[in-house]
Amino acid sequence: MSRFTQWINRFGGGSGDAGTGLDPILDRPLLHLTDTDLWTVRDAVGGAVIFGGPGSGKSSGPGRHIALSMLESQMGGVVLAAKPGEARKWLDYATETGRLDDVVVFSPEYPELRINPLDQELRRVGRGAGYTANVTSLFEILLEITEGGRKDGDGEKFWHRATIELMTHATNVLHAAGETVSLVNIHELIQSVPRRSEAVDEFHEDIWRDHSYCWQCMARAVGQDFQDVVPERQQDLEMAASYLCEEFPRLAERTRGSIIATMKGMALPFLQSPLREVFGSETTLRLEDIFDHRTILICDWPLKTFASVGRIANGLMKYLFQVAAERRSVGRNTVPAFLFVDEAQLFITSRDAEFMATARESRICTTFITQNISNLYSAVRAPNAKHVVDSLLANFNTKCFAANSDALTNRWAADLIAQSWQLMAGSSTTTGQQASTGATLNQQLAYRILPGEFLTLQTGGPPEFLVESIVAQGGRVFHHTDAPYGRIVFPQEPERSPR
Ligand SMILES: Nc1ncnc2c1ncn2[C@@H]1O[C@H](COP(=O)(O)OP(=O)(O)OP(=O)(O)O)[C@@H](O)[C@H]1O
Ligand SMILES: [Mg+2]
Repeated sequence: MSRFTQWINRFGGGSGDAGTGLDPILDRPLLHLTDTDLWTVRDAVGGAVIFGGPGSGKSSGPGRHIALSMLESQMGGVVLAAKPGEARKWLDYATETGRLDDVVVFSPEYPELRINPLDQELRRVGRGAGYTANVTSLFEILLEITEGGRKDGDGEKFWHRATIELMTHATNVLHAAGETVSLVNIHELIQSVPRRSEAVDEFHEDIWRDHSYCWQCMARAVGQDFQDVVPERQQDLEMAASYLCEEFPRLAERTRGSIIATMKGMALPFLQSPLREVFGSETTLRLEDIFDHRTILICDWPLKTFASVGRIANGLMKYLFQVAAERRSVGRNTVPAFLFVDEAQLFITSRDAEFMATARESRICTTFITQNISNLYSAVRAPNAKHVVDSLLANFNTKCFAANSDALTNRWAADLIAQSWQLMAGSSTTTGQQASTGATLNQQLAYRILPGEFLTLQTGGPPEFLVESIVAQGGRVFHHTDAPYGRIVFPQEPERSPR
């Protein structure tokens, strides 16, 4: 019995799964790629990346089919809306699949939904909870997101490390003082550290103590009852006080200035509305609802409207979801969730490859849609961008290529699908007295799909509304090609009249 027939029996009203060995969650079909090739949840948790030139049909073709299949299978998940119509489109998908009640739209237009990642990280319960070391990773990603990409130069690394050290100490003081840990408060605390040098020593001056937020927080922290607090936390506080009041003020002015400038570059978007309120106050948005109640969280911060603020908000939500997904405990009956990122080049971080490497165990079905590989290389903006992107892409098991005129992507796709021995027809001519011409057949190693073929795929729209693509998947031999790639056609839904 083929795998497909087993599925027809199992889910198509057949005799059940007795003896099939199929997992009721992971082997559930999401898409029929062809009549005989199913794409299951197990395939989806391996990650899918969709490439295609502008207007090639990647969103309305494979993207739409994957999105609907995730909703139909009752998953919760996160959608990053980079384009103005994206949230609307997902509301339509949710209506179509009867999931509208599960949708939560996270956007500045709904200010009651807020999430303070720093405070939440320190206050959460459970193993590994409450340690400022976890906040350090958040600072690292914030630096990357706010700068619009990773920078790996030695100079940047030094300033980043120094900035993170400063902010981590400030976080320890705020946390110990019972203050809200937010970038606004971290910034205010750092702005009010004492000036100390041969000539000045504000630390002992009443006027500084009366006006310094740093001093007020330290005084409050020291006044806290530490009986229940582990000794390491007290040590953290002592180290923080000594760094903020002794070490940092005594650094050379230029060094201090550069550290403060790096911190401000990262914190500035969060010191202003709307990020200040949305990410810097209380937490009313529970990411756990995505797993526990199958909430579909649409992060609606389109970049045309919100520019860099939109990129930061969406990028941060993606990171927070990834962390929450990795922390949940996964068992045999854990329901998968999804992460759907169209225009993924806008939100890519160095953390993605690491996340994708374990997304299968976390049961997260990640779909990234982007135009071409060159976009990804330039989004990473690191000297080793190629290495970073290649290792990220290696962790997406399903790769779907719609029409594209990017030579690099087309060659990459052709190389991925690889070459095979093929019989090549030719002709041979012999000269001389017994001259003759004959047909020959030679075995040659040739591309299964030529790079140029990606230029010719159908891009949707009238009259057929079909999006043609080449899909390659690790560990799969497609029935219709008997090779590790398939020619898959995704019907579009013909556009409705504008509402
Ligand atoms: N529902 C639909 N019905 C018919 N045509 C559509 C539909 N959606 C999109 N199209 C058309 O199909 C083509 C592909 O559109 P689509 O938005 O899917 O491309 P895309 O690859 O996602 O482009 P982009 O890179 O700009 O996001 C476009 O010409 C578009 O106008
Ligand atoms: Mg699109």
